[in-house]
Amino acid sequence: MEKQQMLYEGKAKQVFKTENPDLIIIRYKDDATAYNNVKKASIDNKGLLNNEISAIIFGKLHEAGIKTHFIERLNERDQLCRVVKIFPLEFIVRNIIAGSMAKRLDIPEGTKPNNLIIDICYKKDELGDPLINNDHAVALGTATYEELETMYSITRKINEVLIELFKELGITLVDFKIEFGKTLDGEIVLADEISPDTCRLWDIETNEKLDKDRFRRDLGKVKEAYEEILKRLKK
Ligand code: TMP
Repeated sequence: MEKQQMLYEGKAKQVFKTENPDLIIIRYKDDATAYNNVKKASIDNKGLLNNEISAIIFGKLHEAGIKTHFIERLNERDQLCRVVKIFPLEFIVRNIIAGSMAKRLDIPEGTKPNNLIIDICYKKDELGDPLINNDHAVALGTATYEELETMYSITRKINEVLIELFKELGITLVDFKIEFGKTLDGEIVLADEISPDTCRLWDIETNEKLDKDRFRRDLGKVKEAYEEILKRLKK
């Protein structure tokens, strides 16, 4: 499958047309951004690592019966995916309080809530991807209530699968962000990526951060953390 013209370039990926109108090629870049593009850098080989990590995780989700846009990893940087129309929403699952929620509500990072927390954010860079609720999402025309319910339900299932997957690797799945799209035949599927860019992953024994917080918070050894996640996933 050959890449044709570039359809879109995001912060961490490029999307290319292919000769098949149902298929696109997604290319993973080394660029890293944080805090809505305020902090920017290139992390050596991040694209390669995230391409492989996300491919393994999407493969595991397929085995668990979860439908996604992912078809196959083509090479070090590229994956073949189904064309989808992305819902301009981020679904954020929080198993442990960290990051923006810890800050916004003044809760110590690492607090385990008794309930499962799912935030939705409106994907709009100019507004800084604000936290919204279901009524806002519908009023904005991003999705219907039924579509939101479907996405919440898939999100909960993904969380169950990923908690177990990472637990087996000695990792706590603290939180993560996912996105959904609609295929040309109208099916809602998981899209985008799941990687240390989009998850908080802490070593179960030491609580060491093995994710993008190493970049956001200038903790060093960013690439090494991503390599550690890939190494454990490949075991
Ligand atoms: P937050 O603490 O910034 O709200 O992030 C929660 C989780 O979602 C964390 O694992 C990072 C991920 N995330 C993204 O991947 N992209 C985003 O744009 C945001 C806001 C969060």
